[in-house]
Amino acid sequence: MEDKKVEKLINNEEKRQMDFVQLIASENFVSKDVMKATGSVFTNKYAEGYPNARYYGGCENVDKLEELAIERLKKIFNAKFANVQPHSGAQANIAAYNAILKPGDKILSMSLNSGGHLTHGHFVSIVGKFYKIFSYEVNKETEQLDYEEIRKIAKEVKPNLIICGASAYSRIIDFKKFVAIAKEVNAYLLADIAHIAGLIVADLHPNPLNDGVDIVTSTTHKTLRGARGGIILTNNPELAILLDKSVFPGTQGGPLMNVIAGKTVSFYEASLPSFKEYQKNIISNANVMANFFIQKGVKIISGGTDNHLLMINTKKSFNKTGKEAEEILYKVNIIVNKNAIPFDEERPIVTSGIRIGTPAMTTLGWRNKEFLKIAEVIYNVLKNDDNISIKKNKQIVIDLLKEGKNEKY
Ligand SMILES: Cc1ncc(COP(=O)(O)O)c(C=O)c1O
Repeated sequence: MEDKKVEKLINNEEKRQMDFVQLIASENFVSKDVMKATGSVFTNKYAEGYPNARYYGGCENVDKLEELAIERLKKIFNAKFANVQPHSGAQANIAAYNAILKPGDKILSMSLNSGGHLTHGHFVSIVGKFYKIFSYEVNKETEQLDYEEIRKIAKEVKPNLIICGASAYSRIIDFKKFVAIAKEVNAYLLADIAHIAGLIVADLHPNPLNDGVDIVTSTTHKTLRGARGGIILTNNPELAILLDKSVFPGTQGGPLMNVIAGKTVSFYEASLPSFKEYQKNIISNANVMANFFIQKGVKIISGGTDNHLLMINTKKSFNKTGKEAEEILYKVNIIVNKNAIPFDEERPIVTSGIRIGTPAMTTLGWRNKEFLKIAEVIYNVLKNDDNISIKKNKQIVIDLLKEGKNEKY
């Protein structure tokens, strides 16, 4: 590269990604093929509009690419309609709301502390400014979704839209129960499956499209392991038209065709039998960690996990805030993120917990053995972070990182 400054940063970032244990639940490592497609000449092409209805000439290849992306995406999710243009998960959500709501309409969604996402209506997001937001929490005792309580709130609030799906929730989401609630109050129902998309493709989590949810939004770069971006799915032909219009020209300009190329490759990869194996391993690895922590008396939010992540109440378990825990783990080359936990009293920048996810290291070839060892390290350093403990555990992590590398990634 002629630009040595950027080249150096790319090299440094590559090294960082390989020198640290990546346990951020929303990150992954894409295949070399996804990387190649995302870095391809499609980045040069403008293609406002949709296949065979563009506002630019020279779209013969991008048309075929977008059609292929849509076809593959519909197949892996068993969906009738798909839009692959949202630039990100946030854009997918904003486009979906804009398709069906007017400013001032009411949204009922999971609070940030219980595991929801900013774009589900937090006041700092544009969503919180455009719409009237009402929240549901997880149950205080079980720390799991309480469908009866959500139903009660929905009946009081009478929202135009109910959102289910989360960024930091480790249990199965019962979409059928949400569908019943939405029907009862005559609201649209949107499932944001950004985190669990890969599990759904692998049939390891219920599919909201099979369960009658109106609109499904997702990111493509978490468990789905594709290029960074968003998607929208529906089985309803009328909603499909509104959604397409809302993505373009409603909320976006030209699609990132290079990213759509990367997404398309990942949709192919997600259709392979090896993808199902990969998703099974993600869940198994998360369980191994959760069980280890539980047996050590660590407070795991909701008492366990059904998916790719687990949440630790670091305050109760180790007398440390999420911020402190994140910083201690960084010293032994482990990257996690601090995360608000249900009914958290700390500020979002501090928090009382951490979120741990297994998708990225599972991609690199880690299995139960490695995850068990890393859980031990996490437990040991959060219990004792003196210099000797840090030094000893950092060496264990460095040795672990040398094992089980997957050449494809
Ligand atoms: C549930 C959920 N929805 C939406 C998003 C937003 O995705 P993006 O960061 O691609 O805008 C996230 C990202 O963390 C998420 O977890």
